Amino acid sequence: MKFFVDTADTAEIADLAATGLLDGVTTNPTLIAKAGKDFIEVTREICGLVDGPVSAEVVALDHETMMREAEVLRKIADNVCIKVPLTIDGLKTCKALTGDGTKVNVTLCFSANQALLAAKAGATFISPFVGRHDDNGFDGMDLIRDIRLIYDNYAFETEILVASIRHGVHVLESARIGADVITAPPAVIKGLFKHVLTDKGIEGFLADWAKTGQKIV
Ligand code: E4P
Repeated sequence: MKFFVDTADTAEIADLAATGLLDGVTTNPTLIAKAGKDFIEVTREICGLVDGPVSAEVVALDHETMMREAEVLRKIADNVCIKVPLTIDGLKTCKALTGDGTKVNVTLCFSANQALLAAKAGATFISPFVGRHDDNGFDGMDLIRDIRLIYDNYAFETEILVASIRHGVHVLESARIGADVITAPPAVIKGLFKHVLTDKGIEGFLADWAKTGQKIV
């Protein structure tokens, strides 16, 4: 399973990229606003920090303007992936861009039928939002199970990119179901490294090592 980080904070991205475990980045207009930098500049900076796809989202609602925006975004770097909303115009744009060999992430997916349409439109990634789905009284992970089943039934190559992740259980369930990618905020990814028994174990080993009076280097 690939790990993407969901942020436009370049310091956080650089920090996670240094682990060698980061496969890509997703951004959205809210995250860009939070970063407080020029959209094109910050996207270019992010693209230089990772080898994998960096999702940059269009903000137009109509197909023609989405295509013009995508043209600008595509020129930023080779690893830009165009993010479009799951609407009729968004999927028209997805079909046109992927037909040209551009990577497209279809975002704001809340139903398995929407995911089916995105796959038919040739999406590289489909982004079902599990956290927001849970917030509205549905089971976000059931949505991922349904999409996995449907994509496997028809051998669709669209990758399931689990988005709106809030905690480690979302990550664990995504891996159990066989999602292709998760995108999570930096704090959630950093939290995955941690376990209280790991910390306790290190503490005990170091206390015993100190008693030996030895050094490795
Ligand atoms: C995905 O690409 C989105 O940027 C993101 O996961 C949205 O998450 P949120 O529901 O925490 O805003």
